Amino acid sequence: MEPLNKLVLCLCVALAVSWRGAIVDAVIVDGLQVGFYSRTCPEAENVVRDVVNSEVAANRSIAPGLIRLFFHDCFITGCDASILLDESPSGDVPEKESSANGFTLIGLNTIDAAKSKLESLCPRRVSCADILAFAARDAAVAAGLPNYDVVAGRRDGERSNMDDLPGNFPVPGHHVPRLTELFFQRGLTQEDLVVLSGAHSIGGAHCFMFSNRIYGFSDAADVDPALDPAYAARLRQLCPPRKPDDDPERAPKINFDAVSGDRLDNSYYAELLARRGLLTSDDALVQDPQTRAMVEAFARDDALWHRKFAEAMQKVGKLDVLLGEGKGQVRKQCRLINRPPPQQQPQWPAHPGFPWRPPQFPRRPRRPIRRHPVFDLINGFFRGFH
Ligand code: HEM
Ligand SMILES: *[C@@H]1O[C@H](CO)[C@@H](O)[C@H](O)[C@H]1NC(C)=O
Repeated sequence: MEPLNKLVLCLCVALAVSWRGAIVDAVIVDGLQVGFYSRTCPEAENVVRDVVNSEVAANRSIAPGLIRLFFHDCFITGCDASILLDESPSGDVPEKESSANGFTLIGLNTIDAAKSKLESLCPRRVSCADILAFAARDAAVAAGLPNYDVVAGRRDGERSNMDDLPGNFPVPGHHVPRLTELFFQRGLTQEDLVVLSGAHSIGGAHCFMFSNRIYGFSDAADVDPALDPAYAARLRQLCPPRKPDDDPERAPKINFDAVSGDRLDNSYYAELLARRGLLTSDDALVQDPQTRAMVEAFARDDALWHRKFAEAMQKVGKLDVLLGEGKGQVRKQCRLINRPPPQQQPQWPAHPGFPWRPPQFPRRPRRPIRRHPVFDLINGFFRGFH
């Protein structure tokens, strides 16, 4: 090994050890290919695109949902479709159940639809992780982003644990230093943070994700003084004060971008500059002098942001991917890992008149899914996330 490589390795190990709370620092993996399915399933990308286009045409809110799913998948244990699992073989409560995900995830059915088409066309070829990466691109393109290439060859993982999120995942209350640190642990830069946050140009957030900014913000101010007062007043109309027994699933959802909420464009950045960033983590990007200059640059130049966004999505798509036949698997269904091959049946001598029946093993009881109490979700703070 070259001495320089050794030094870099030592530095990385030292950094990895010094950050407790990180699962494992993510790395950008090389080795995926554009056109990976050109021989094994040539229609793969077209099938995903058609499914995404028809679902988005029926309901525009699928597009932001798919982009967010991809980000949430790749940011925790890499792009391995761990976000899609309904249960994990080890009995861990899956990522899907985390308070950062749960009922706020949208687009899961679209992935299922694409997967079932692909299973009938080329069974066990196209991984769920690749479907998600294609679908996120197609959703972005459906929302107005110029097309970009998506490398493929990711295998599906077998781990999904919601306990991987706290301490590793950004939450709406975070400011730039913490956000930067979390992105850095995932091999992403501060510019990636600013560029990717522009995904908040489409879709929206439930009132409880930012209600701390419009009610009881501080002892000195009921409303976050960083917010444009007219915008804050509008938000208070759309999001009435929460009552204790309100069902969070019925909370109103507010568009991030009041100007062009359906189009993936740079108006997100102009809105930030106009003090109309919805989440604390959005607004933080203009409050912080390091990131403010980038916000200004992207607000001025839509084409620049489009290009940077596509590049950053490509980078996200290479986070800690499982590569090669030996790693992971290609799931049959995106919500479940494939069962291990059936155990050898015991060979009993056949007795005529006493047909052999396979022994009945008691089914292992499924662990009850631990759900976060409702109050974990309110006020934009997630218990256990720091
Ligand atoms: C920087 C830290 C980030 C934080 C704290 C954050 C937080 C959030 C929150 C709280 C929501 C609202 C969920 C809901 O109420 O249903 C949301 C929505 C969304 N996020 Fe992020 N996010 C971040 C970065 C990103 C990134 C990097 C992407 C993608 C590249 C992304 C894509 C989206 C999209 C598209 C939505 C809208 C989803 C929908 O309407 O269904 N976010 N985000
Ligand atoms: C569109 O999808 C969203 C998210 O799944 C859902 O809440 C909404 O009701 C759907 N809208 C229509 C018109 O079906």
